Amino acid sequence: MKLYILLLPFIMGALAYEDMSDKVFLFPAPSAMAHVILKPEIKKSLQRLTICLRSYTELTREYSLFSLAVSGADNAFLIFPKSSNVYTYILQEQSAFKTDPETLAWKHTCATWDSTTGVIQLWINGKLYPRKVSKKGSTIGAETSIVLGQDQDTFGGGFDINQSFVGEISDVHMWNYILTPDEMKGVISGHVKGNHINWNSLNYEIKGNILVQPKLYCKSWDCASSKHKESIAG
Ligand SMILES: *[C@@H]1O[C@H](CO)[C@@H](O)[C@H](O)[C@H]1NC(C)=O
Repeated sequence: MKLYILLLPFIMGALAYEDMSDKVFLFPAPSAMAHVILKPEIKKSLQRLTICLRSYTELTREYSLFSLAVSGADNAFLIFPKSSNVYTYILQEQSAFKTDPETLAWKHTCATWDSTTGVIQLWINGKLYPRKVSKKGSTIGAETSIVLGQDQDTFGGGFDINQSFVGEISDVHMWNYILTPDEMKGVISGHVKGNHINWNSLNYEIKGNILVQPKLYCKSWDCASSKHKESIAG
């Protein structure tokens, strides 16, 4: 019995399905191993998608913010910042976005891709950067591996410590359609939740040294609760 109670946090930590609305993942150090696996609600191929998340990091080197692999395409959908550039990859094809200089603050990022036109949108803190076009007419397969904290160079692995994420990530949502700007606004204020990945009902698995911590958005002693997120990033 005692052993079971001792093991319970590990069992629950290994496979969780929970409301993370007041939580963050804290990635404490560069690692070639530590990562979070996110398990989507829907298992269908993707011709349209939107991903939104919040991040807080001191990194100026390149790192993976969101890595989705399929078999045969490790960069099926990747968001890869490097100082004040953000690179997106759709089915291995890179697009480069020049973004505003980094400030040390929580950042809300949304990215969309629509196969019909190939258009990629990158939004940071409610600002849409000049759109790019990639992989028109392509489809991302249904069998995906979605990872936070590492860039996948193989399906579910092939990590590089120099591309690992260090810092905090929260409010990860994903949709199998394109959100309108109004809907994105709803994401920032916490009303709109993902249908493909939903932070408020998250199926995830932590591998290695990553902590789940309370969400704290504090400036000048003033800490916003999840109900006042708009004031932080948006
Ligand atoms: C990571 O970067 C350090 C410093 O630049 C370098 O010495 C090391 O070889 C790199 N590691 C890998 C796995 O690329």
